[in-house]
Amino acid sequence: MQNEKIKAILEEGLKQIEKAENLDDINELRNRYLGKKSELASMGSIIATLPVEEKKTFGQEMNETKTTLANAIDERMNALKAKALEEKLQRETIDISLPGRESNLGARNPFHIVKDEMTEIFLGMGFEVADGPEIETDNYNFELLNIPKDHPARDMQDTFYIDENTLLRTHTSPVQARTMEKAQGKPVRIICPGKTYRRDDDDATHSHQFAQIEGLVIDKNINIGHLKATLELFAKKMFGEKREIRLRSSYFPFTEPSVEVDITCANCGGKGCNMCKGTGYIEILGGGMVHPNVLKMNGYDPEQYSGFAFGIGIERVAILRYGIDDIRKFYNNDVRFLHQFKKKG
Ligand code: DAH
Repeated sequence: MQNEKIKAILEEGLKQIEKAENLDDINELRNRYLGKKSELASMGSIIATLPVEEKKTFGQEMNETKTTLANAIDERMNALKAKALEEKLQRETIDISLPGRESNLGARNPFHIVKDEMTEIFLGMGFEVADGPEIETDNYNFELLNIPKDHPARDMQDTFYIDENTLLRTHTSPVQARTMEKAQGKPVRIICPGKTYRRDDDDATHSHQFAQIEGLVIDKNINIGHLKATLELFAKKMFGEKREIRLRSSYFPFTEPSVEVDITCANCGGKGCNMCKGTGYIEILGGGMVHPNVLKMNGYDPEQYSGFAFGIGIERVAILRYGIDDIRKFYNNDVRFLHQFKKKG
């Protein structure tokens, strides 16, 4: 380099650029060395005063110096930007080893857990879900189920009356009559989960409102073996493969024969203990073969069609499943109770 002054500017410039600590420094240097008022810029006017042979070299040296400085500035700037980014990333790293804050999720009521599980089991066997009103007529709740006025079976199912013919249904069985009416003599395979009401005094085992799942199958050649197989499969799926069922003779006006269905006690496995009151069995539901009168009243020829029906108390199943000691716990919404049914994990 021939021009000492340009050389000095270049050397000093490169030194300063090297020392720049941040983007402000860089901008300041860019201004100082390459800006309109820079020393190099002001030297541009000298060119006119130089002899011709020096002009070319001087011009070249000026340009080279500007390019070198500009490149050095860009390079340093990029390095500083990268460093700044690196520092920012360091500063903002998320410590994934910190446990997250737990959100306080609620739990499903065991009633709903069990109701859904029961429904799933029957859906898996090909049942469809039917529905009916909770405010029911005397006709559907009693008459069409072979429980005429003054029938003693009505005593066990006292309920809340809206007027003489309108009441809160005492069981889900009226959905049997409603379904048969709709099916108009065609085969039926339904369950109906729903609320039911009785005029009972509330205590640990009674509630004026509870829920049942009704089941009804009507077709040609249906026999009590179908009922037993269906309920056995249900019991094993709900309570475990080891459970056995037992059908005990019973009475309901809408079935003939009628049965009460027991499962072997989970606590003693059938030997007899406190929980099953020494019998080895625990009652879980009622059922039977649909009474010919019921078939007839609801549009089926009992010579051609037969069917089975059953009614299961949902709370009762949940109580047995979870060892719950008071039916009222399902309805009180005490979070300490519900919390126990929170899904883990
Ligand atoms: N409805 C009866 C009750 O609430 C339960 C029941 C028994 C339903 C036998 C049925 C059945 O469908 O066949 O006590």
